[in-house]
Amino acid sequence: MTFRARHLLGIEHLAPDEIRTVLDLADRYVDLNRRTVKQADVLAGMTQINMFFENSTRTQASFELAGKRLGADVMNMSVAQSSVKKGETLIDTALTLNAMHPDLLVVRHPSSGAVNLLASKVNCAVLNAGDGRHEHPTQALLDALTIRRAKGRIQRLTVAICGDIAHSRVARSNLLLLGKMENRIRLIAPPTLMPPGVAEFGCEVYDDMAAGLEGADVVMMLRLQRERMDGGFIPSEREYYHRFGLDADKLAHAKPDAIVMHPGPMNRGVEIDGTLADDINRSVIQDQVEMGVAVRMACMDLLARNLRAERGRKAVETYA
Ligand code: CP
Repeated sequence: MTFRARHLLGIEHLAPDEIRTVLDLADRYVDLNRRTVKQADVLAGMTQINMFFENSTRTQASFELAGKRLGADVMNMSVAQSSVKKGETLIDTALTLNAMHPDLLVVRHPSSGAVNLLASKVNCAVLNAGDGRHEHPTQALLDALTIRRAKGRIQRLTVAICGDIAHSRVARSNLLLLGKMENRIRLIAPPTLMPPGVAEFGCEVYDDMAAGLEGADVVMMLRLQRERMDGGFIPSEREYYHRFGLDADKLAHAKPDAIVMHPGPMNRGVEIDGTLADDINRSVIQDQVEMGVAVRMACMDLLARNLRAERGRKAVETYA
């Protein structure tokens, strides 16, 4: 198995063989998670702390389940009740927790780059659960696993990513991952929600759903990230849905077997029609949630192996 990373901070620094390693191991954890008894012991004796400075349903729940299924002691730090509310900085909070010798630290933070900064201050392995507009690496990995299982491959596909690209860490991580795996990527958004210079990433840029979806294998919808907007980016939700909301008519431009994805949380009737989101013949949205647990198990398993190997090397150096 090839996985060299010390932390999982983004897709940016992962090589294609490392991405394949995560997906292959996650496939095995999908099988485990479908059994009645879902226990493994690869993190036995290890401590995992989840620090979420931003709201989450899917990511926090799946990291917690993933750690527990692998035998770790899992602690969810309650940020609302912590000393962060008394003015303690992120770094001081991290150093305080680091002194308790955790092995895995899972962090979501509203500021881009905050998780990278934190990783430079602690001894344990750090997993980025989403930082600002920067990256959401486990989301891109679970999306890749969902695509690979639905389409049989994760190369040479036409993937349309539609919606609020400008404010989306999910779009950025997917753009990086799908590009590394040699897919054709189309970004579809109103000009106000398309980051400038994005075509330099080697993707095609559209502001028309019919043209952008033509012949797509995968249609990935994104939520309007209102918490990261500081002005009016769309005339109205009604107008946005009319032009950019995915419904059966717009989906008809994609391939007949195109799959529909959404990272959640979903705003039905804003970026996606509710009936289409629930259509199990087209939508893989619930599969994405299932793959999320398996991918997070795989990532923590691989990081724990590297952490043990590093500690083993240091112990040898100490006694040499
Ligand atoms: N996709 C995603 O990150 O969802 P949550 O915000 O609920 O974790």
